[in-house]
Amino acid sequence: MFFRQLATKEATLSYLFGCGSCHVAVAVDPVLGDEDWFIAEAGKQDVKITHVIDTHVHADHYSGGRALAEKAGALYCLHESNAERVKFPFESLRDKQHIVVGNVVAEVVHTPGHTPDSICLAVSDLRRVGGAATAPWFLLTGDTLFVGAVGRPDLAGKEREMASVLFDSLHGRILNLPGEVELYPGHTSGSVCGVGISGKPGSTVGFEKRWNPLLNMEREAFVAALTAEIPPKPAEMALWVAANLGE
Ligand SMILES: [Fe+2]
Repeated sequence: MFFRQLATKEATLSYLFGCGSCHVAVAVDPVLGDEDWFIAEAGKQDVKITHVIDTHVHADHYSGGRALAEKAGALYCLHESNAERVKFPFESLRDKQHIVVGNVVAEVVHTPGHTPDSICLAVSDLRRVGGAATAPWFLLTGDTLFVGAVGRPDLAGKEREMASVLFDSLHGRILNLPGEVELYPGHTSGSVCGVGISGKPGSTVGFEKRWNPLLNMEREAFVAALTAEIPPKPAEMALWVAANLGE
């Protein structure tokens, strides 16, 4: 397993990971303009990027997903709920689907809340856990869970409803993972996708459970806290979303 994290524009974190022995890799949440970084890193590792995944249709930057997929000859993947929304063909991902790249397996975890189509990826290394067993080593959390914060729930409207959906995604799909599982989010501090995000680019399930205040609230308090002071939406949001939907 190799793993690279890129800190880039709009306080975004992008990822490239895969299997060096089998020469295959997955890119996650690339920002437009960073395609050459991914191609160069893949070259250094002697791997072919087979899948480019956006954890959701982004509302805070231009995605480089389709451009990178085209350049690398890879599949561009989004959650299946985008089928009626986006204006281009994409590889549809469903909950619990396994994306196998050599000895590395990324399991799709549908975690709506920040947006209805948000997914996380639970990544296992078969060479570490033995045979076909999958025990996640780390979780790419997209904009569902940040270090010290959670994703804002208002971008798709209905913010109270979406905050409650986010509560279920966090408690039902992430916080029940073993405490040692590492978390790698889609943003650090400075992003408009959440409030109070740490500048640290990674954490663990155990540390966030203990110290992230939003994860220690009952549902009603969580919804109230998340919807009390919603920051303004970015001025360019409509442009970014339209471009990322291929409109
Ligand atoms: Fe986002």
